[in-house]
Amino acid sequence: MSPPLPAFLLLISIAFTSASVVPLQPGFYAETCPDAELIVKDVMRRNMIKEPRSAASVMRFQFHDCFVNGCDASMLLDDTPNMLGEKLSLSNIDSLRSYEVIDEIKEELERVCPGTVSCADIIIMASRDAVVLSGGPDWEVKLGREDSLTASQEDANNIMPSPRANASLLMDLFERYNLSVKDMVALSGSHSIGQARCFSIVFRLYNQSGSGKPDPTIEPRYKEKLNRLCPLGGDENVTGDLDATPTMFDNRYFKDLVAGRGFLNSDQTLYTFPETRKYVALFSKDQRAFFNAFVEGMIKMGDLQSGRPGEIRSNCRMVNSRPVNALLEA
Ligand code: HEM
Ligand SMILES: *[C@@H]1O[C@H](CO)[C@@H](O)[C@H](O)[C@H]1NC(C)=O
Ligand SMILES: *[C@@H]1O[C@H](CO)[C@@H](O)[C@H](O)[C@H]1NC(C)=O
Ligand SMILES: *[C@@H]1O[C@H](CO)[C@@H](O)[C@H](O)[C@H]1NC(C)=O
Ligand SMILES: *[C@@H]1O[C@H](CO)[C@@H](O)[C@H](O)[C@H]1NC(C)=O
Repeated sequence: MSPPLPAFLLLISIAFTSASVVPLQPGFYAETCPDAELIVKDVMRRNMIKEPRSAASVMRFQFHDCFVNGCDASMLLDDTPNMLGEKLSLSNIDSLRSYEVIDEIKEELERVCPGTVSCADIIIMASRDAVVLSGGPDWEVKLGREDSLTASQEDANNIMPSPRANASLLMDLFERYNLSVKDMVALSGSHSIGQARCFSIVFRLYNQSGSGKPDPTIEPRYKEKLNRLCPLGGDENVTGDLDATPTMFDNRYFKDLVAGRGFLNSDQTLYTFPETRKYVALFSKDQRAFFNAFVEGMIKMGDLQSGRPGEIRSNCRMVNSRPVNALLEA
């Protein structure tokens, strides 16, 4: 049993947990950390020179963060003895990467304006920069998010979609976040950059839906190429490009889908289902339409919030130490 708490400790604890849905706005750090956006872009640029794929890997964070209890950097928390974080969840383990880029951004920001810029906002700024620096559209991001105090491996397992997913399942999933079919197809266009593992496609190469046969929608020459990259029983950590121009953010991804050259089942299925096929066809012909829809989708996805109490973490991998709450939980 915990001893009764002095009244002043209870008050402090209430103050700590009062935040809920916070208003987001462009230029949120204009006065408190005017160089924040410049610093984020600079670190992104440096890392992309070192390793071009880091742009894609960081941009993916926005999806995996925002879909699991809102854009609150919960996916950046390391496991603790009391909490299984999201890093080892089904979709993230051996797959999400470039966490150290976020650490580098955070360290620079903490030097310039300590305790000011949230990790959740860093993900949003860095994702935008990854797109711009890869040749994609630019847009103004809304900021002012807070970082979560917890993470949930279980929620990440239950929510994040499998590369086996079909368009029908994906439409239903995105609808739960008020993201339209058009938003979903445009956001899938993020696979215009980056790579995925053989692990994510061997089932469709050798045993689609348990049929013992390959997915019949894969274009034959592309299928040969994938078979060579990912032989049955081979190393499933080997990676392949998600589209034919994996460091350029463009509409090549959609052209590839039209040609039957989608890497993941969840990509190619967008051209199989009539509800999504029309958007794939549109985006494959009209890069501007893709860019506009993509920006709209990223902004909507960035608006997702958990409504739970938050803080500005000083290290994105762990919550700030909190003696009062530790006392309350004892
Ligand atoms: C529509 C449902 C989606 C599914 C089923 C899906 C699934 C996947 C899978 C399975 C991988 C490769 C994982 C691996 O093999 O290690 C991947 C990579 C990636 N995803 Fe998605 N994804 C989806 C939507 C999104 C969205 C909305 C974004 C961002 C806005 C995104 C951004 C990325 C990026 C950039 C990569 C490449 C990362 C890298 O090279 O490190 N994805 N996705
Ligand atoms: C799509 O996937 C879901 C879940 O795996 C499945 O129940 C459904 O039958 C599939 N839909 C079609 C039309 O293939
Ligand atoms: C979706 O929109 C409805 C109606 O505006 C709203 O009540 C609900 O909270 C929204 N859901 C999400 C996840 O934003
Ligand atoms: C294909 O998948 C089904 C169902 O998941 C499984 O029962 C079957 O053994 C698999 N076949 C091969 C050749 O791996
Ligand atoms: C992939 O590599 C990780 C370590 O990076 C290892 O733990 C895992 O077993 C490997 N997975 C496969 C499918 O080979």
